[in-house]
Amino acid sequence: KNIKIKVPATIANLVCGFDILGMAINEPYDKMEVKLLKTSDIIIHHTDDFGLPVEASKNVAGIVLMKIQEHLNIKNGFELTIHKHIKPGSGLGSSAASAAGAAFAANALLGNILTKEEVVHFAMFGEELASGVRHADNIAPCIYGGITLVKSSDPIDIISLNAPALFVAAVHPQVEVKTSDARQILKKNIQLKDAITQWGNIAGLIAGIEKNDLSLIGRSLNDVIVEPVRSILIPEFETIKRKSLELGALGGGISGSGPSIFMLAEKKETAQKLAHMMKSVYDQIDIDSFVYVSDVN
Ligand code: HSE
Repeated sequence: KNIKIKVPATIANLVCGFDILGMAINEPYDKMEVKLLKTSDIIIHHTDDFGLPVEASKNVAGIVLMKIQEHLNIKNGFELTIHKHIKPGSGLGSSAASAAGAAFAANALLGNILTKEEVVHFAMFGEELASGVRHADNIAPCIYGGITLVKSSDPIDIISLNAPALFVAAVHPQVEVKTSDARQILKKNIQLKDAITQWGNIAGLIAGIEKNDLSLIGRSLNDVIVEPVRSILIPEFETIKRKSLELGALGGGISGSGPSIFMLAEKKETAQKLAHMMKSVYDQIDIDSFVYVSDVN
């Protein structure tokens, strides 16, 4: 038995919802082929050369398959081929795609014996291996699609939101920002007044999404806690944000822990203009970048 799947990139946090909000986009995406083996081996192949480990216990997809195998106490193993197009370290949910894709495919091959929440639970072991933290804000939209709220990750409580028909422009500048480093620099304590601003933004964003109120979505895409600290790791972050708003973006910010930046737009043409501007900002300072235009998946 084997299965072929497409696994979407995801944008975690959606600016103000650190570790709780995420959105699946349809570009870029990984492709995975997973085969159920009669032996207990877990064999991993990569068709690209990103230097990712193939040893199961060190690979984010491999560890997920090991945990599922162990939990279900099955004799079967898996052979997995990953065609990775979501660049590792981009902040576009590359590790989540490998982990979620592996959990989803294994479950499908085993006759869907796990619930969606359990699929998320096992996929989170991959995120833990990648960044040291079991967060589900990339995993959840990868598995559920659209925009998701991780109300709680222990116990797992995920809410799918009614994602409006929006377009996304994203740029991935070729600078390295490790998720673990980008988490380390965050403040451990926050002021009550900042917390109040932030939960106003999160509540506004959720309400805007549910009511399809694009102006409210735009007004709520502000982050007074994480972005001010992390944006210093991303060259030209403020320039791109300012120019994006001038070009008609609803709003946006850091994708996950960066270095990618994303912006939401009502029209595809606006998203295309934004992507073009983002690339040219980085061209001017000789930083290579990849841009993506997508819709919410
Ligand atoms: N919510 C996580 C963070 C996403 O911002 O650190 C990282 O992929």
